[in-house]
Amino acid sequence: MAQPRVLTGIKPTGQLHIGNYIGAIRPALALAEKSDDMFIFIADYHSLNAMRDPEQIRANSYDILAAYIALGLDPSKATLYRQSDVPEIFELSTMLMNVAPKGLMNRAHAYKASVDKNRALGKEGAELDEGVNMGLYTYPILMAADILIAQANIVPVGKDQVQHIEMARDMAGTFNHLFGETFTIPDFEIQGEVGLIVGLDGQKMSKSYNNTIPLFETSKKRRKLIMKIVTDSKLPEEPKNPDESTICDIYKFFGTPEEIAELRADFEKGGLGYGDAKQRLFEAVDRELAEPTERYNELIADKKQLDEILAAGAERMKPIAMETINKMREAVGFKTR
Ligand code: TRP
Repeated sequence: MAQPRVLTGIKPTGQLHIGNYIGAIRPALALAEKSDDMFIFIADYHSLNAMRDPEQIRANSYDILAAYIALGLDPSKATLYRQSDVPEIFELSTMLMNVAPKGLMNRAHAYKASVDKNRALGKEGAELDEGVNMGLYTYPILMAADILIAQANIVPVGKDQVQHIEMARDMAGTFNHLFGETFTIPDFEIQGEVGLIVGLDGQKMSKSYNNTIPLFETSKKRRKLIMKIVTDSKLPEEPKNPDESTICDIYKFFGTPEEIAELRADFEKGGLGYGDAKQRLFEAVDRELAEPTERYNELIADKKQLDEILAAGAERMKPIAMETINKMREAVGFKTR
């Protein structure tokens, strides 16, 4: 049997940190290693419902592309493209509008979150939709088009995206029912179930808490940041609880199993100061990220090469997208293109 086709999209959102890496990038790369039929795309149209700065959109798209490649994604193996380079997605999206119940969109998480925010501000009636554009409201339709255009079998996503995949299944199923078998019904696969990734201050690592360790830094800066991890004031000789330590929490994603066990044992025994523990953490993180950082810096300085990679990806995508579009056009009674 043919390998399942795996597809995932990444929204281009600013400076990547090790939380993004562990929760999303590393699992996607592991899948790409295993799959001979992997599609990864930059969901730039999706970012447009909130972002309005063209320079930032451009920069973020290059950034995410360079990051994935620097961290090991092979663009000659996976099909890597930018959403806005595949106009067939938008034709399909318009078609799916006709099989997407409005009530379904009312229940989409991102839209509901905006409504809830307005309600909390004391707004009511039509005011509840304030600040909601149709890009946000119809987000699940565009996302369904992203998936169905490639006839993907499996979509690896974070938990927060499961509802969107269910909506895509719903639209594909309705279309197939009305017009005959046209779209593969996609399944989701939850990824990034790695547990909480904490930041420098022990809270969830997040740009909005300003507690991140960025992915691509000089080793010097990386070390400096890691040395800033907040600890209690236990003396080196005192035993410490590894389950209550931010250092151990981050180390578990970068150390080998033996190294992790050793750090935990040294915590419990006493005799290891926090400075030395941070140094161990730095060494493990740097071991994994120093080389990718060099590659990232080279790539990001070479926009021509990045453009070529995107052009090649769009080229690979074109016949696949056209085949789906023609199938869809034929099914509804339009002329094929
Ligand atoms: N909505 C996803 C996110 O916010 C990104 C995305 C867009 C996506 N289109 C997709 C993911 C298609 C998987 C498949 O993370």
